[in-house]
Amino acid sequence: MHLTREEETIYKGESGATKQKAMEILVALGDIYGADSLVPIESAQIAGVSYKTIGDAGLEWISDLDARVEVPSMLNPAGMDREKWKDMSIPAKFAEKQEEILRAYERLGIALECTCTPYYVSPPKFGAHLAWAESSAVAYANSVLGARTNREGGPSALAAALIGKTPRYGLHLDENRAPDVLIRVRGKLHDSDYGALGYIIGEMMRDHIPLFELSLLPTYDELKAFGAAMAASGAVALYHVKDVTPESKNFDRPRECISLGLDDIKEMYEKGDEPDIIALGCPHCSPDELKRIARLLSGKKVTTELWICISRRIKEQNIRLVREIEKSGAKIICDTCMVVSPASERFERMMVNSGKALKYVPSLCDVDTILATTKDCIKAACD
Ligand code: F3S
Repeated sequence: MHLTREEETIYKGESGATKQKAMEILVALGDIYGADSLVPIESAQIAGVSYKTIGDAGLEWISDLDARVEVPSMLNPAGMDREKWKDMSIPAKFAEKQEEILRAYERLGIALECTCTPYYVSPPKFGAHLAWAESSAVAYANSVLGARTNREGGPSALAAALIGKTPRYGLHLDENRAPDVLIRVRGKLHDSDYGALGYIIGEMMRDHIPLFELSLLPTYDELKAFGAAMAASGAVALYHVKDVTPESKNFDRPRECISLGLDDIKEMYEKGDEPDIIALGCPHCSPDELKRIARLLSGKKVTTELWICISRRIKEQNIRLVREIEKSGAKIICDTCMVVSPASERFERMMVNSGKALKYVPSLCDVDTILATTKDCIKAACD
């Protein structure tokens, strides 16, 4: 991979050991994937934040770094709500370690916005190059916003943030953004159907790039849930939807075609025992989703634990809605989520409206999980 003179000096260690390490990571990646050069990025989003997932080894690795990021950078969700961790029954020891991790990231110049929806805090421009790690945010940025990012790992996103560049390969290049399979969906999908279908398609697609023909145009929130599920059960980092997503017109229609319908997702809504927790906001809720939840909860009282996961920024910008929701007894949870917080583990059965949560909660929290529509989730919480 070609390095400029300035990049060479960083590689040789003239900007310190941390930047040297970061440059070594980027060069190694670039060499593996055949990048010709580094490309400047607009922002970075870094995973590996919850103490539950990175533990003491991760904390030590971040604490040893000594440099500042070169571009605006945010974090993925941490293991707890930084203000309400006691209400979540998080042990003090965990909270202490979690704060140490956040302070270590802050010392590098990273904003402590802990969210999987960084595009609500600062939306990237069409065509902007990014180094984002959260798979659902990668799918949204590439597909819905037309920005360009590979699915970064925690260390490579951090390395890119410290250098302000990422190797130019994969989805940074026009020729790798073309769809290679057409998927026709019969019937009209709504709400959690997108998570259900995304779950099934992710398993079929792995890292292919599908082009969808849908009978009904999806909302941005539905696209968010769709991409998150495909990225979780498979490794889809980019998809196109005919007449909806910004690059869908740029490419020829793929020859291979698969057809799916509502019948294929029926079994995803398997019923069973009553949940002892209902969790919404995977990925973190948008203002529109909050509005809808507030409307569904209006005049009701929550009788089963109900969490609504959002970014702190969205909470601060929507205080009136947050208060309305909290009046029902539902809990607004910031900085974290039902998957990366250990707080989920004390429950037996979780109801979600998200294909991604359906995939991860059973394996990462050891909690039985069922899928339902948002309406049914609220009904179950208030029955
Ligand atoms: Fe976000 Fe947690 Fe889901 S990080 S995408 S709410 S698993």
